[in-house]
Amino acid sequence: MKALVVNSSPHMDKGNTAVILNPFLDGMREAGAEVELFYTRKLKINPCLGCFNCWLKTPGVCAQRDDMDMLRPKMEEADVCVLATPVYVDGMAGPLKNLIDRIIPSVQPFFELRNGHIRHPGRGENRPRKMVLVSNCGFWEMDNFDPLVVHVKAICQNINMEFAGALLRPHGPAMKPMLEIGGLVEDVIEAAREAGRQLVRDGRMSPDTLSTVSRELMPMEDYFQTANQNFQQQLDAIKAK
Ligand SMILES: Cc1cc2nc3c(=O)[nH]c(=O)nc-3n(C[C@H](O)[C@H](O)[C@H](O)COP(=O)(O)O)c2cc1C
Repeated sequence: MKALVVNSSPHMDKGNTAVILNPFLDGMREAGAEVELFYTRKLKINPCLGCFNCWLKTPGVCAQRDDMDMLRPKMEEADVCVLATPVYVDGMAGPLKNLIDRIIPSVQPFFELRNGHIRHPGRGENRPRKMVLVSNCGFWEMDNFDPLVVHVKAICQNINMEFAGALLRPHGPAMKPMLEIGGLVEDVIEAAREAGRQLVRDGRMSPDTLSTVSRELMPMEDYFQTANQNFQQQLDAIKAK
């Protein structure tokens, strides 16, 4: 299994998204997957110009020359695409959306009916491909992921990929301090790793494993109070300089 992974957190390896993504990828590797990881921050991917050259003037070839020339063939070749993003204003981070928009050269302009819905036919071979979402957010509640999950599921239908599930970590910024203390959230990390193994081994991730990835880390009131104290301390420290 070949996996193409894009992490769109600007904090890359040091971010809260990576806290869940990296053990998930370790699990995939352990189970034998070939994993290639890219950070949007290190890539040059311009927004789509909407010129439709890729459909009409130069079918299959985008008018822009940037890192999508390298990435799009890899996405087409992959059996699994993993999209990793922090929640930014109720959706994916902008650079990831730019990347997704730029896969339009991979489909033809024509319409076809797929499951009773108008879609564009692909250009290459039509083999089964899966997509996984990995995300974390700053607010406490799981419903902060709802718009993002609906969006990613819609993208999968649009580009004819199977949505294979999501690793979602609400109150994600709590993970790192709790990991530093030790003995508090190791089960969450292990569940992320296990989800990676399951995806490669069984082609699916178990609901129990995914719910451990998302489990409550602390009561909402405690998270709320701790976050506000931290922000106040940081503001005071900056003011004191
Ligand atoms: C521009 C911006 C918008 C954000 N919007 C939301 C939001 O709508 N909901 C939420 O729960 N968290 C939001 N957050 C918080 C991030 O999702 C959170 O800090 C996350 O842990 C960052 O992950 P990272 O360290 O991998 O970048 C936002 C953060 C930024 C910088």
